[in-house]
Amino acid sequence: MWLTMRQKILEALYQNKGYISGETLSKNLGISRVAIWKHIQTLRKDGYVIESSARGYRLLSAPDLLLPEELPNLGMKVYHFKEVTSTMDIARKLAQKEKETIVIAETQTKGRGRLGRYWHSAKGGIYFSLILKPKISPLQAHLVNLMAGIAVAKAIRDLFNLKATLKWPNDVLVNERKVCGILAEMEAEADIVKFINLGIGINANNEISYYEKNAISLKEVLGKEISRKELFLQILKEIKKRKGLLGRPELIQEWKRFSSTFNYQVRIITIHGTIEGQPLDIDHDGALILRTREGDLKRIVAGDCVHLRKD
Ligand code: BTN
Repeated sequence: MWLTMRQKILEALYQNKGYISGETLSKNLGISRVAIWKHIQTLRKDGYVIESSARGYRLLSAPDLLLPEELPNLGMKVYHFKEVTSTMDIARKLAQKEKETIVIAETQTKGRGRLGRYWHSAKGGIYFSLILKPKISPLQAHLVNLMAGIAVAKAIRDLFNLKATLKWPNDVLVNERKVCGILAEMEAEADIVKFINLGIGINANNEISYYEKNAISLKEVLGKEISRKELFLQILKEIKKRKGLLGRPELIQEWKRFSSTFNYQVRIITIHGTIEGQPLDIDHDGALILRTREGDLKRIVAGDCVHLRKD
């Protein structure tokens, strides 16, 4: 695998439990000691705690950043940014030429939510877009949202022993408050998907904005910070397991097992208006089947769902 100089230095620091001298680094990597020192300075700026003494350099701790050099080989390109407008903006450009790719950001200045909403993206959260190129029809694209919701809920359940549930179509809740939002943007040609950019935002260690009354962070739920890296990697693992299930009934079955939506009377806000009733099922495309207060059956493809009261 091709490594940047920064990655090579980090690798050497990780491998050496004790000190490694500037001279050894310089000799092994074929660059000057000054150049090594400059890299060490940048690493420190990024939050790596590196001790330096007459014996050389020693890594004391690494930041909880989702830097590519901190991640194992994911089998796809990884772009990491400290700050972007939205990982969806970057992903949209990259998707035209790249294969499956991940775009991660530590913060976003114009994070996008569903239905044109703003997604507050403070430091400490997990924000990424996954460029997917599944061989499915545009009509099935919505299933990617469901697949991602299951993956996030499963990862949270397994890592933190919390009962994460799904609210249709794709909010992940803990204690009925939102810990994760999912947004998918698609480009299609005729009846084939060109790409789907799957954006996932997780309230991990970030502060929740005052205006997000229904949101909560995992840090708040657990009373301590979590390892963002561990959660991020677990989510990717769960997504990978389910990528081949798009369009298959098992995926829908699994979504239903994770969902709390069927336990509630709901209000669905769609572009055509608001509708209330009892959710009965989701169909093979992930659309919600609802019995309205008037007793009619409605199939709802997209909308915002509010859990009202339990039956
Ligand atoms: C929602 O409204 O619930 C969806 C929120 C999706 C937020 C994520 S964060 C990473 C990616 N970049 C964005 O701008 N939005 C998505």
